[in-house]
Amino acid sequence: MAVDKEKLPVHIGFIMDGNGRWALKRGLPRKMGHREGAKAFRKIARYCKDIGIKYITFYAFSTENWKRPKEEIDEIMRLFGEYLDEAEDFRKDRTRLLFLGDKSAFDEKLRNRMTELEEASAEFDQMTLMLAMNYGGRDEIVRAAERAAEMVLNKEIKLSDIDEKLLGSLMYTGGIPDADLIIRPSGEKRISNFLTWQSAYSELYFTDVLWPDFTSKELDKALEDYASRSRRFGGV
Ligand code: FPP
Repeated sequence: MAVDKEKLPVHIGFIMDGNGRWALKRGLPRKMGHREGAKAFRKIARYCKDIGIKYITFYAFSTENWKRPKEEIDEIMRLFGEYLDEAEDFRKDRTRLLFLGDKSAFDEKLRNRMTELEEASAEFDQMTLMLAMNYGGRDEIVRAAERAAEMVLNKEIKLSDIDEKLLGSLMYTGGIPDADLIIRPSGEKRISNFLTWQSAYSELYFTDVLWPDFTSKELDKALEDYASRSRRFGGV
């Protein structure tokens, strides 16, 4: 990796898109694309850890993805369960695990395991790995607004206490820096309800490579591109 450490993003978001097309191109069922996608996810997460990225978020399942065929959803849930079962490396790697999204939609076993991993890794600070599962950016903002309204009603805060800082703290990512860079492979150029609040000033990087083909070399290209940009956050 040729990029200067100081010019690396602190938080990268990945939209893992293109699994279905990767499989169809090879005459395989879509679920095979998700299997390869899960492999790419593991490799990229490891590479990010090795080069010192502090926060990584992967969009694995959106609130809209329930509209997909049952067979495909079942396979994504199976892969998710498999990852949760072998996520033990987090202890050795001192990685904090967080699951962004509404956990209530998952079966009890998955739900309990997610909570268990979040609790067991809460103190780790080498890297934070976030998986967005049953996640929607607008849904996250609505929940934060509801929680703020509830706090006003319960007289925990005043109406005038509601500001960006407070709402930000009520997101699933409360306390975590906003995304510096969002990467979307597969040729689509949109954000699709991912980190809606946290991407206000994110740099966006799009590539035609499909997610299962997204390697550490592809990530290096994105990081070089990011390092060459000038971020002004509304200033000059
Ligand atoms: C989008 O590609 C991808 C998804 C909706 C699922 C992503 C899931 C994984 C990478 C595997 C799950 C792994 C874990 C650890 C949870 P697409 O299917 O929309 O691709 P297409 O646009 O080519 O159809």
